[in-house]
Amino acid sequence: MWKAKLLEFVKPFTHPAWGITHFQRVYELAIKLAEKQDLDVDNDSLFAAAYLHDIGAFEPYSKKGKDHSDVAIENCSEILLSVDFPKEKIGLVKDIISGHMFYAKPSDINESRTFHDADTLDFMGTIGISRILAIVGKEDWTPDLKSAIFLIQKFHDELPLQLYTTAAKEMGNVRMYEMKKFLTRLSQQTNDFELI
Ligand SMILES: [Fe+2]
Ligand SMILES: [Fe+2]
Repeated sequence: MWKAKLLEFVKPFTHPAWGITHFQRVYELAIKLAEKQDLDVDNDSLFAAAYLHDIGAFEPYSKKGKDHSDVAIENCSEILLSVDFPKEKIGLVKDIISGHMFYAKPSDINESRTFHDADTLDFMGTIGISRILAIVGKEDWTPDLKSAIFLIQKFHDELPLQLYTTAAKEMGNVRMYEMKKFLTRLSQQTNDFELI
């Protein structure tokens, strides 16, 4: 069974912000968004893309100066064939991966749009805040706590504009509210972020 083999393959990819738990959340959220929108989607391709879309951010795949989406696209065929994933669906998996980031524009294919929105939503709300705080001092995005708070602010302001499906926009509103509340309270408790 290819799913079990793929899960076994991705086991080492743990990370507080973009590891296997993120992969699973994005898969479940993409399915949920598709259901809410009554969209016909291929669950197999969403599953494969979910567990491989960020592998370009992990050793031994990551390449300096190259977007992690492109690295994942370059490597996913070989991995998918090795776990006996249906060959004819690999093209769709690549399309999903190529547009997954909030800064990328997904294609018009249902799977790619819902997946892009699911991955973007995972940077928003309480889970988005948790992920960003978890990488303080560990990743280039967040050298220190203050930079992480400004990134949360930036995501609050900009990510809602990167959602394509109505279902994701609705969910995005709730997550924006959670971020706003957090930022407002933190501002009050730190003299407008001065004392972070
Ligand atoms: Fe990514
Ligand atoms: Fe991701």
